[in-house]
Amino acid sequence: MLQQLSATKGFLGLLGGYASKFPARSFSTSVPFKTDATGRILPHGGELVDLIVSESEHKKELAGSCKHKQECSDRNACDVELLSVGGFSPLKGFMNKDAYDSVVANMRLPNSNLIFGLPVVFDTNNESIKEGDRVLLTYKGKDIGVLEVESKWQPNKARETKECYRTSSLEHPGVQMVAMERGKYYLGGKVWGLDLPKREFQCATPREVRAMLPAQQDVVVFQCRNPVHRAHYELFTRALDAPNVRPGAVCLVHPTMGPTQDDDIPGLVRYHTYEVLKAELQNSAIKWAYLPYSMHMAGPREAIQHMLIRKNYGCTHFIVGRDMAGSKSCLSGEDFYGLYDAQDFARQHAEELGMQTVPSADVVYTEERGYVTVDVAKKEGLHVRKLSGTKFRQMLRGGEDIPEWFAFKSVVKVLREHTQSS
Ligand code: ADX
Repeated sequence: MLQQLSATKGFLGLLGGYASKFPARSFSTSVPFKTDATGRILPHGGELVDLIVSESEHKKELAGSCKHKQECSDRNACDVELLSVGGFSPLKGFMNKDAYDSVVANMRLPNSNLIFGLPVVFDTNNESIKEGDRVLLTYKGKDIGVLEVESKWQPNKARETKECYRTSSLEHPGVQMVAMERGKYYLGGKVWGLDLPKREFQCATPREVRAMLPAQQDVVVFQCRNPVHRAHYELFTRALDAPNVRPGAVCLVHPTMGPTQDDDIPGLVRYHTYEVLKAELQNSAIKWAYLPYSMHMAGPREAIQHMLIRKNYGCTHFIVGRDMAGSKSCLSGEDFYGLYDAQDFARQHAEELGMQTVPSADVVYTEERGYVTVDVAKKEGLHVRKLSGTKFRQMLRGGEDIPEWFAFKSVVKVLREHTQSS
């Protein structure tokens, strides 16, 4: 492992003057991680929640006790799965009204005062569901869980979105989702997990991911909702050289695979790109797993949500670059968040989360020095090559050549196959 790492460091060194190309942005203060007996970071709240019922008689009994049945949306199914496997530890069910109010207003769970970025709620339009009832949660032909309704309320979505997304404008994709996709009521209460949703790819549980990570080492996680392109690769490979990461660390590439904003590349297509890249890179310091999470595009608040989830998966450090989980107005194209809003917010709350951030400035490709930060490119008057995500997708559809400085050939090949067949 150490050999592999020094190989990585050597490779980055060859790219030329690491620090001169990527001057560090400010790091979160270094906190000793609280660890379990194996030396892995403790989950959020101290204990990994496991809501999965394994005994078949118990499952039958639970399903039989339900007064209602509701088919989950793709987003609901991600939340039920993350609750069931402990990805949202310490939650043991959907937030009820007081937890929802507290998280919306203060980003804290009531009683424990633990930090939580965004509410986790189950939505419905069903008028007949009452507090005290049990609801059988189904998804694509499977019974995936049971929800015992402790509270049902009609949320103030304007307030929720203003607090969580910093805007209540329908021009924001996350606000649109809350206002227009979600039902009129929210349900909170205890959840039992009956079965995990059926997917074309496996999403390893926090327990499984923890088991594949080395104990007593730093684990730097890379969250993404896009295919891995060259800029991403730069970020997560050089993160292992960050000043606040100890030698011997590994990087977990942990893409979110649930629904995301409309013009993003769907999870299933991205899955194929990740698999080819994983095989191509063959780097034992880079681990891969998939996360059943639906994106909210909530910028700063979402950075906190991603961090606490990754803590549950055993990660100690979180890579956060420019405009993380950011979004633009669907009318004017204007950004809702500043370039480093999410990064700064993540750093401010890192100590409270008991994790660290590995921040990166905006990196761009230059003809003279390859990838460097925007500031270095400006200062040295380098020639910057740019390709936006939108332009990239247009070129892909139009069969145009995609420059290799932007994307891996193997990834482009998979994307083309899937773009052409869809
Ligand atoms: S998301 O998490 O921000 O929604 P995305 O796939 O777009 O997903 O980006 C993954 C991570 O890479 C984020 O931390 C983002 O800030 C970072 N990132 C992407 N491109 C760049 C870039 N050119 N410079 C710096 N950071 C970047």
